[in-house]
Amino acid sequence: DFIKHLYSHEELSNKIKNLLGIKKVIISNGSIYESNGRLELAKVSSNYFLKNIKNNMIIGITGGSTIGQTIENIQTNKSFSNIVVVPVRGSLMGSVKNQANILAVKLAEKLNSKYANFYLPDDFDLDNLKDISKLPEVQKTLDLINHLDLLVFGIGDALKMANRRLLSEDEKELLIENNAVAEAFGNYFDINGNIVLKSKSIGISLEQFLNVKDVIAIAGDDEKEKAIIAISEVRKDITLIITEECAKKIIELK
Ligand code: F6P
Repeated sequence: DFIKHLYSHEELSNKIKNLLGIKKVIISNGSIYESNGRLELAKVSSNYFLKNIKNNMIIGITGGSTIGQTIENIQTNKSFSNIVVVPVRGSLMGSVKNQANILAVKLAEKLNSKYANFYLPDDFDLDNLKDISKLPEVQKTLDLINHLDLLVFGIGDALKMANRRLLSEDEKELLIENNAVAEAFGNYFDINGNIVLKSKSIGISLEQFLNVKDVIAIAGDDEKEKAIIAISEVRKDITLIITEECAKKIIELK
């Protein structure tokens, strides 16, 4: 509360922007643990997204509940028939609801646009991956990932995501030993933005991520502060959309 009274949203976003050294920070009201907090984050994110898209763009998205809710909140009468929405990773095992694949179709429906897809599970081992990457449909999607104009992605805590992804005990140990704090687009990073573990699944690479023209990260305050700091080290010219509570926690850490 003390910090809340000290900073307006604008001051708070400038403070975070300077602390993290990134391009742009947008703050939504409150916390995702308060009623409407998640919805607020999704509303702010979907509005910003709509303001920043235009026809002919190739737009990448990741999965996760945060991106899912953002897409849920998108409302437009405009038709973006020449936008292509691309899931940047093959799907996760488990819950289908917030897989990038499914979200890409939902977003395309909202925008009246086209979409690409990965008809693949997320848990292929590398041996299979090589062959699968050769499939023409997959090639097409991978080629689109090489030409993204915009990427909208979620950020997660490394160990939480390792559990959600059912990583092996060895892999989890490796994450702990190397102080991994963040997970984004399938890869795990330490607080300085160094990659600790690469995704075995098919999809966007770190190099490709760094080449996307414009990137927007969206994250709530569910223990993602360190992860956000880490991702801000991976790429400085990002737009970060977070809750007010998340911003305060980052200030406390920094
Ligand atoms: O699994 C996709 C993904 O975007 C991860 O890269 C990220 O760590 C996670 O989802 C965030 O999930 P949520 O928005 O549900 O917290």
